Amino acid sequence: MAHPPKLLVVTFGCQMNKLDSEVVAACLLEAGYAPTESPREADVILVNTCSVRQHAEDKAWSLLGSLRRRKQERPELVIGVIGCMAQKERERIQERMPHVDLVCGPMELDRLAELVEEVRARRERVLAVGEGHVGRAPRVVSRRPNRFQAFVAIMRGCDNYCAYCVVPYVRGREESRPPDEIVAEVQALVADGVREVTLLGQNVNSYGRTLGDGTSLVTLLRRLDAIEGLVRLRFVTSHPKDATDELFRAMAELPSVCPHLHLPAQSGSNRVLRDMNRRYTREHYLERIARLRELVPGVEVASDFIVGFPGETDAEFEETADLVRQVEFQNCFIFKYSPRAGTRAAELPDDVPWRVKQERNRRLLAIQEAIMRRRNAAMVGRTVEVLVEGASHRDPAHLTGRTSANHIVVFPGDPALAGQISPVRLVASTPLTLFGTLVQGGASRG
Ligand code: SAH
Ligand code: SF4
Ligand code: F3S
Repeated sequence: MAHPPKLLVVTFGCQMNKLDSEVVAACLLEAGYAPTESPREADVILVNTCSVRQHAEDKAWSLLGSLRRRKQERPELVIGVIGCMAQKERERIQERMPHVDLVCGPMELDRLAELVEEVRARRERVLAVGEGHVGRAPRVVSRRPNRFQAFVAIMRGCDNYCAYCVVPYVRGREESRPPDEIVAEVQALVADGVREVTLLGQNVNSYGRTLGDGTSLVTLLRRLDAIEGLVRLRFVTSHPKDATDELFRAMAELPSVCPHLHLPAQSGSNRVLRDMNRRYTREHYLERIARLRELVPGVEVASDFIVGFPGETDAEFEETADLVRQVEFQNCFIFKYSPRAGTRAAELPDDVPWRVKQERNRRLLAIQEAIMRRRNAAMVGRTVEVLVEGASHRDPAHLTGRTSANHIVVFPGDPALAGQISPVRLVASTPLTLFGTLVQGGASRG
């Protein structure tokens, strides 16, 4: 038999993109491809792209530019662009990157294996950037990069139209998957060794709304929690306008649901929040956090912020800084505003100078880092339960894992513990990491 063709998938962007890459790769591997990490060896290179900020697009453009040479050396190489930038920049990709053979948006990924074959057979460029219905390839459960942890998409698209955000334009309308399908997928994953599942959606709090049969995130969490062998259940991302007491109660009550909530605030200024079309106020956000902490013991909260949104004054930025100090998040992801063509905010002048965005970004990070340093130091001395993920990248003699509240813990140990829940006594800390030692005799829960 001839050598199987080799496949390389490069992924930019969010967890949804990582999952899409995994599903697409699994599909092609089933069809007879062999995986490779090397662009030199690959017969097919797929670049899964993100459009959320200009910086993400720049990285994809630069990689695509560098592949031009490779294609000249090996004309039979197939280069495909998939994901959000394929949808948004299809014309420009075709114009500027003549060596790209295939452009496939996130709503057509279920046809990808077929499209790659078409390119290989006919040597013709293929463009597939449909709108409307979201194609979904069936998941090949046995082909996963991680034995113990898996992402599961519960919905696609987004109907929120935050003024700055391109996602609704590139990922289409919000659409929830039927719960029976999700439950069956999680059951199959758990039967194959998965212990932790993270449910993905742009706004998981509105899960079920498009099904119209009373299904909600809470009813889904209840059904998934009942699956024997599923130890940890997480979900991202939540929207403050839809995060209900009912959800918080379910988090407290269901043993597998982790006490961790990613609840992006974006800004602490009501004027900015209004112009962002976030549809909640600073007061509402703070009230939701207070209620969450009241209802879910030991809960940790993470957030996203955008600095330098159009018209953001020093005083408005100070309101964001104040909110960060007040809430004391476990972690914050801070982004400099990047105008996206076609969105409502792109019609406003991008009037906060780059160096001001830079400075606000730096200041918010410094505030958050001091909080993380103090809060992590306060955990030293405690014993926590860690789901071991595997050897630490920095030091192979150490293991890395997470607590259910999503603290990262590093400790010396045997890589055979991967996938187990182990008790670890914390002995040291940095702002981002806790260090510990395995509690001897404290039996690992297998
Ligand atoms: N609901 C999505 C959001 C995806 S974008 C989710 O599942 O997480 C992730 C974060 O990027 C957003 O929360 C926001 O803070 C940031 N972001 C989105 N659009 C942006 C833009 N135009 N400029 C800067 N940051 C942006
Ligand atoms: Fe963008 Fe808002 Fe949708 Fe998130 S919820 S993807 S920030 S529009
Ligand atoms: Fe990026 Fe698309 Fe995700 S724009 S953040 S890859 S939904």
